[in-house]
Amino acid sequence: SEIDKNLIQNSIRDVKDFPKEGVVFKDITTLLNNKEALQTLINHLEDRYKSYDLDYICGIDSRGFIFGSILADRLNVGFVPVRKKGKLPSTTVCEKYELEYGYDEVEIHLDAFPKKNPRVLLIDDLIATGGTAAAAAKLIKNVDANLIEACFILNLTFLNGVKKVKEHTPVYSVLDI
Ligand code: PRP
Ligand code: HPA
Repeated sequence: SEIDKNLIQNSIRDVKDFPKEGVVFKDITTLLNNKEALQTLINHLEDRYKSYDLDYICGIDSRGFIFGSILADRLNVGFVPVRKKGKLPSTTVCEKYELEYGYDEVEIHLDAFPKKNPRVLLIDDLIATGGTAAAAAKLIKNVDANLIEACFILNLTFLNGVKKVKEHTPVYSVLDI
């Protein structure tokens, strides 16, 4: 509902000039430390996804881990991390993506989804340019999982990241700003 979304949106803090001058950083730590806002958000996501028959929630390093883990527990499914390169210990598949200056890489374990043909939801706190989520979507498909949707708490609409991710999966965002 509208009231619920205002509660969530008002709990997210704007930090000016982080990580550099001219950027207004959306800080979700003030959502996480607010139990009413956090419960409203997770209840909303539980409501949306309880009928999706998901097998796993896949969260993106690092803030996608927080929301993804809570939601996975609520939906009674397993959690799978997509990590920045060099962090996962076993055999991985990796995908490069473009940053403002240069490139980074994300990885997933080759055997991340023990179930055959699993139904997977991808989640992260925020979509900006969409590069990270598009790379994560490719990884999920490369290990033979069915990517059902990508979910974001915040969509920075002026960066048009959804367009990039929609090439790979349906996209849902709780708040468009
Ligand atoms: C942020 C955010 C997303 C990504 C979005 O993470 O949590 O994962 O950037 O940007 P994009 O849509 O332009 O790819 P960040 O890379 O800062 O990593 P962190 O969570 O480890 O701080
Ligand atoms: N907040 C958090 N993460 C981000 C942002 C932001 O405003 N922009 C790109 N990644």
